Amino acid sequence: MSRKDIKDNSGKVVMQVVEYDGFMFHVSTMGHIMEQLKQLKDMSFRDSDVCVISYPKSGTHWCCEVVRMLRNNSSEYHDMLHPLIEVFPVEKLKQMFDGVFVSHLAPQHMPKDFMERKCKIINIYRNPKDVAVSYFNYVKKTKSGELMKDMEFDVFFNLFWTGQLRSCPWTKYIKEWTNYKEENPSHPLLNLCYEDMKKDLKTHVKKIADFLELHTSDELVTEIANACEFKAMSAYKNSNIPAFMSIVTDVKDENIFYRKGEAGDWKNWLKVAQSEAVDAAVEAAKIPLDIKYT
Ligand code: A3P
Repeated sequence: MSRKDIKDNSGKVVMQVVEYDGFMFHVSTMGHIMEQLKQLKDMSFRDSDVCVISYPKSGTHWCCEVVRMLRNNSSEYHDMLHPLIEVFPVEKLKQMFDGVFVSHLAPQHMPKDFMERKCKIINIYRNPKDVAVSYFNYVKKTKSGELMKDMEFDVFFNLFWTGQLRSCPWTKYIKEWTNYKEENPSHPLLNLCYEDMKKDLKTHVKKIADFLELHTSDELVTEIANACEFKAMSAYKNSNIPAFMSIVTDVKDENIFYRKGEAGDWKNWLKVAQSEAVDAAVEAAKIPLDIKYT
């Protein structure tokens, strides 16, 4: 494990990360990642536990809210931060009784018992151009992005697309998980596309319920879909900010996990060359998922 300064094109340090096993982890929130992974490796899970996995800014909170509502048989929102297993103290994770976890880890770093039990996994993925835009707007408001407050999008994009700011390049993360599923076909893993979910949330709520083997009534599926449409959900989340948000950000008057909630905002941000670079990398990676740009 080595500590690394990430620098912009002028040589200014913009972020500090630790590199472990080919992946980057922010020093501010995951500086002790090796110890955290070791503790996660020894943690026991239950067969009914579920984990929502994603590359950050792909709609993780949205998907997690739907999962929680379905499992609780209710369309009431949750006021807690969803427990990111690589960040939350393991002792606290063990006390999470509802068994819904969140992670941006690659499969090889996931907790051993969770994977051996073949607990259900839901992977929400989003087109990487919108992921870049979402991450740019988000990171500037976080404590770990403190040194990036004045960064221009073009500078950010280069760092982001080469995977220096978070974990690994988007294509690598997606491939790690699609390869895992190919090699472990019996592990229940549901891939959900953000853009499809935007188009028809109700069908996706039902799809998630079926995957979780829940017998949710049509009425409740409709209620959950209505509650989780961006407008309703962001209004609630912005007026009920979890106290734990202070770990992530100093921003107090908005919930920084809810911004625009749209598909295709990248068209307002990416230059043609940047968009083409993404297209080429996605094509070269031969990702066996349908990536949708609008
Ligand atoms: P934008 O920044 O493009 O608005 P994550 O939860 O993985 O951090 O993802 C955050 C992104 O999901 C943000 O994207 C956020 O607005 C969007 N999002 C959150 N709730 C949503 C919802 N109910 N419908 C659609 N998008 C949502």
